[in-house]
Formats: sequence, C-alpha cells, structure tokens
Amino acid sequence: SVPVVTVDGPSGSGKGTICKLLATRLGWHLLDSGALYRLVALASMRHQIAVDDEDSLTVLSAHLDVQFKTAAETDGVHVVLEGEDVTSTIRQEEVGKLASKVATYPGVRQALLERQRIFAALPGLIADGRDMGTVVFPDAPLKIYLVASAEERARRRFLQLQKRGADASFAKILQDIQARDAQDMNRSVAPLKPAADAVTIDSSELDIDAVMYEVEQLLRE
Ligand code: CDP
Repeated sequence: SVPVVTVDGPSGSGKGTICKLLATRLGWHLLDSGALYRLVALASMRHQIAVDDEDSLTVLSAHLDVQFKTAAETDGVHVVLEGEDVTSTIRQEEVGKLASKVATYPGVRQALLERQRIFAALPGLIADGRDMGTVVFPDAPLKIYLVASAEERARRRFLQLQKRGADASFAKILQDIQARDAQDMNRSVAPLKPAADAVTIDSSELDIDAVMYEVEQLLRE
C-alpha cells in the first residue's frame, strides 16, 4: 500500500513536532500542508489581494511560486516564496489567522490539492494538516487524529511565548485557539474532523515522547 501516514488535528495539538520527529526517524518526506495555506496568505498580503476576493486568491494559489528546500540535516526545510526565504515569516500569528480564512475558500483548496498530491510520489510521506486523511490522501494506510483540550493547547503556547520572552496573555491565546478551531471545524469544504478510519490520540496528558511511542506502536501494526 501507499506509504503515507496522515496526521490531522487542531492548531497547537503538537502535530508539527510529531511529524518532524517521525519524518526524521523514518527517513521519510514531510508535507507541511499548513505552510501552503500560510504561503497563500502571505503572498496575498504582499500582492494586496483583499481577503474576500476569492477569485484572485484562487488564481494566486494555482500559480504560487514556492520551493521547499531541504537545507542541512539540522536546519530543516526552508520555504522560499518568489525567490525569498520566508521560513520564519509564515509562522507569524497574523499569517496563521489569514491562512485559516483563505482556507475556507473552495477554489483555494482545490488549487492546493493538486500541489499536495504530488508529494505522494515521494516514497514514505508524513502528511501534516487538517484534511490529509479525509480529502488529500483518503487511501493512506495509517491515519492519526491528534487532539488536546483547548486549555492545554493554550497553556503550551503560553509557555512557549514566555520562554521566548514575549509578553503573552493566556486568556487571549485561549480565545484565539477557540476562534481558529471554530473556523477550521465549521467551514463547508474539508472541515477539520477525523477520517472514519483514523486513530485518535489525545495528547492533553501526554508529552512528546509518549505520543511518539503510541504512533510508533501503530506503525508497527
Ligand atoms: O500551526 P497551526 O496549527 O497554527 O497552523 P497550520 O497547520 O500551519 O495551518 C494554518 C491554517 O491553514 C489552519 O488554521 C487551517 O485553517 C489551514 N489548513 C487547512 O485548512 N488545511 C490543511 N491541510 C492545513 C492547514
């Protein structure tokens, strides 16, 4: 069967970390589908396309000039948009928010779908996103749905920001997480939900090692 493992779940559930670790340990490729939505968001800001202009955003998605460059082993993947390294820029909070908004448009999703499926040609793929198991790779032999309570996700984000010396408000972070959940789960196209054959892992009370242990057990089955 196709060696694709899909990992879907809400913002802040730890998918990114788990997927990177898995890809490294298995020596597989990684598809960070959220980065594509973030790239559309960033490109739309730069080209001054209005957030409600679905047609222009669809055209933009179809023609997005993006490269994923694998740098030195330790350095991870670099994301290049129109020739510029935007690896850290696309991680900004405002880009994430806009990404969630553009991700509600069917035209944008359709344009990005084709780009994402190309990754399946890579033997051994970890696909990180919201609809990897439900829409993009419905035949994947292993599908994981990684969740955690909104409070726990907000707590992790809060600690992360604190460590970086940023002043953060827990209440505001929790509010943002809940708003993002609502937008991702209630949209009409490819809403965030587990595939019928997905295994749900609740990481509210698990650290990274414990989640990795469970995933590696599932991979062995
Ligand atoms: O890291 P975080 O969970 O905040 O965001 P992300 O995974 O980079 O995704 C950013 C936004 O893109 C999400 O809030 C989703 O609305 C959207 N997205 C999507 O609709 N489908 C995907 N497969 C991946 C991301």
